This record gives sequence, C-alpha cells and structure tokens, in this order.
Amino acid sequence: MGASALASLALLPSASSATLLYVVTDIAKFVTTLNLTTSTSGQPSLEPVAFSAGCGPYPTWLSLNKATSTLHCLYYDSYHPKNGSLLSLRTSPDGVLTPLSNISIPAGYSSGVLYGSKASGIAVANSQEGSVRAYSISGSALSEIYAEHFDHVQQPGQVDSQGASHPAAAVLDPTGTFLLVPDYGADLVRVWNVDQKTLALTASTPLTAAIGSGSCRLVFLKTASRTLMYLISEIANTITVYDTTYKCDGSLGFEQVYMTDTHGLNTTLPLDTDTFVWDVQSSPDIRYILVLSVSMAPESPGKRLNTFSVDAETGALAHVQTVMVGYPYSFSISKDGTFVAFALWDVGTVAVYARDVATGLLTRTDASFTMPGGERITYVVFDE
Ligand SMILES: *[C@@H]1O[C@H](CO)[C@@H](O)[C@H](O)[C@H]1NC(C)=O
Ligand SMILES: *[C@@H]1O[C@H](CO)[C@@H](O)[C@H](O)[C@H]1NC(C)=O
Ligand SMILES: *[C@@H]1O[C@H](CO)[C@@H](O)[C@H](O)[C@H]1NC(C)=O
Ligand SMILES: *[C@@H]1O[C@H](CO)[C@@H](O)[C@H](O)[C@H]1NC(C)=O
Repeated sequence: MGASALASLALLPSASSATLLYVVTDIAKFVTTLNLTTSTSGQPSLEPVAFSAGCGPYPTWLSLNKATSTLHCLYYDSYHPKNGSLLSLRTSPDGVLTPLSNISIPAGYSSGVLYGSKASGIAVANSQEGSVRAYSISGSALSEIYAEHFDHVQQPGQVDSQGASHPAAAVLDPTGTFLLVPDYGADLVRVWNVDQKTLALTASTPLTAAIGSGSCRLVFLKTASRTLMYLISEIANTITVYDTTYKCDGSLGFEQVYMTDTHGLNTTLPLDTDTFVWDVQSSPDIRYILVLSVSMAPESPGKRLNTFSVDAETGALAHVQTVMVGYPYSFSISKDGTFVAFALWDVGTVAVYARDVATGLLTRTDASFTMPGGERITYVVFDE
C-alpha cells in the first residue's frame, strides 16, 4: 500500500463508521442498499443490507435529498423504448426504500438536478427528446411544471451526432439561482433564471461553446475570489474554464480563462472516437476536479479517472493522477471526500477507492460488491 493510501486511511475516524450507498442496475427494477463500514483499523468493507423494489430498468440518474430522506430516480427502458419515469422513494435507517410517487416522462436518456427552496423541484435534461422539463415535488406527489423543446439546425463544422439538440445534463450554479444545461448538439450551454420559491424557470442568455465541440458536462467551483465553471466537451475532448459573473441585467456572464484537454496533457486529443469524456465532479473541498473519460485506444482501453488540482486564483488545472478504473458508468464521492465509489458497468461491481483529501490521490481498496446475476450497475450514490 502506498504512502498516499496510508495517509488517507489515517484521516478516517478512529472509531468504526458506516455509510449507506444506493445502487441501481440496468435490468433489475430494484435498488440495492450497501453498507460501507470502516473498521477501527481503517479497512473499508461493503455489505448488502437491503434490496427494495423501486426504480425501473436502465436508470439514467439517481439523486438523494438527504433533508427529506428521498431518493429520486429517472429511468427509461432502453430495451423496450416506451415512456420513462421519474420516481421518488423514501429512505430509512435500515436501508429499505419505500416507493412514494412516480410520474411518466418522455423516454430518452435523461439527467436531472434538484432545485428551488428545500429542493422542491427537479429539472430534467432529456438528450433524445431535445428538451428540458421541470417537476415539482409537493408532499409526495410529482407534477410537471415546465417543458421546452429545442430546434437545432446543424451548422458547418458539426459532426453527424450533433444533428439535433441533445441536452446532456442539468446543473445549478452555486447560488441555486441559475439552471445550466450543456447541449451536446447545439454547442450551447443553455441558461435559465430560477425562481427558488415558485420554481419558475425563465430562459436567459446562453453561453456559446466552440462549434463542433459537443458540450456535455459542467461543474462549478466557487473559490474565495471567483465562481469558476469547468465545461467538458465530448467531441473536442477539452475542459474549458470560465470565470462567471452575475450581471446586473440578471444574466450570467462567462469569460474564458483557461483550456486544456481532458487528459491534462496540454495537447489536442484526436477528434475521433478513441477518447471521449464521460463525467466531471469536484471534490467536496473544491480543490480538485475528477474527470472520467473513456479510451478505446488499443494500448490503453478502458476508462480513466483523471484528477486535476485547481488553481483557485486563475482556474488553471494541474494533472495530479490518472487511474484506470475499468468501465464505470458513473462515480460518487463521499461527503468528506475520503471515498470514491465507482459503478463498474461491465463487471456489475461497485468498487470503493480511498481518496487522500490532501493530495487528491486515489487508491483501490478491498471494499467491493458484485451484483448477483451479472446485472450491470449504472449508478451509485452515498446516503449522507
Ligand atoms: C406516455 O406519455 C404520454 C405523454 O407524456 C402520455 O400521454 C401517456 O399516457 C404515457 N403512456 C404511458 C403508458 O405511461
Ligand atoms: C452497517 O454496519 C454497521 C457496522 O457493522 C452496523 O452497525 C449498522 O447497523 C449497519 N447498517 C445497516 C443498515 O445494516
Ligand atoms: C407508479 O405509481 C402507481 C400508483 O400511482 C403504481 O401503481 C405503480 O406501480 C408505480 N410505478 C412504479 C414504477 O413505481
Ligand atoms: C501548454 O503548452 C503551451 C505551448 O505548447 C504552453 O505555452 C502552455 O504554458 C502550456 N500550458 C500548460 C498548462 O502547461
């Protein structure tokens, strides 16, 4: 075990601790609850504690509202494409989930974000439909409160897959007063003003990204002096950093301050399908960003998690570590930043890595859980 792993284990509480994780798979319509425990010697382990009927097949998004003990899930059955659903499930200390409510939504790969006061709304970006919709959660009932479709005319320089609008993710700015949706097809980051009380969304000035870049994910980092936005582009394989400002006309201003490739090599990655970025998240202490990308290159197939440290003044990134992590569909960082759980799709396994919060370095631990029956894991989230 390396010095970094020992350092991260030393940061763990000395008394044993336990955290629940929720896991969903592509075909099973239940949620598996895992118990991540850390022994007094610092060794983490993962045990299943509950299997609950809940989400549908092929979940595309999972998010916990800790304050209301509610797990929200979006799915659509990609094998039998019909309508999708947005579901809410009540969590409990023993890990068992109880369905609360559901609403039928248009099929398509969808990703959401909780928004508004007390996280009483969910905004959903639907990549296939080319839409953004919003739902309110009043009591346990879900209802649609907003829907907008986007027309997109392909521009010169765009690839075939950009022939339509493909809203790829829904993200809030750090104040919760703006909703941002990177649109892979349109090379835009669409922006809305959020009324946190009424949940009303009002379209605002979008950010125009480079033509043909394929904006797909973004994450905000609010440092002492700046509100930085890291935009990941799937086709160009770039991370573009913007200094964002809250303008007096009520819109968001974006000034590009830095750009690198998604592997932090300061080169231009090939514009083919050898490499494409999948996800980006910031560490809880916002000193690092973690970028998951796939490489089909014969010499290094698989997904890599690249960790970059962030210069809080300039927004610049410095490459810290690349870990080959198999084929995760998604990953989740624990609240204190000491663990990263990967949903390894190909082998149906949740694998837990220890993370040194000081250095940002990841080390694989023995804590893992493989789904019986070879189901492919799509999402994992910590309950904390
Ligand atoms: C599918 O969605 C449409 C429109 O949203 C709705 O009218 C229809 O009832 C839904 N069908 C099912 C089976 O839920
Ligand atoms: C998780 O494991 C801890 C430590 O063994 C135990 O105290 C706790 O009850 C477990 N949680 C559940 C939900 O089983
Ligand atoms: C959705 O809710 C209805 C009751 O309103 C219930 O019959 C149905 O089983 C629920 N579907 C899912 C997938 O939970
Ligand atoms: C990237 O490379 C260029 C020259 O190729 C250099 O000027 C620049 O400083 C490099 N940036 C980083 C972050 O290393």
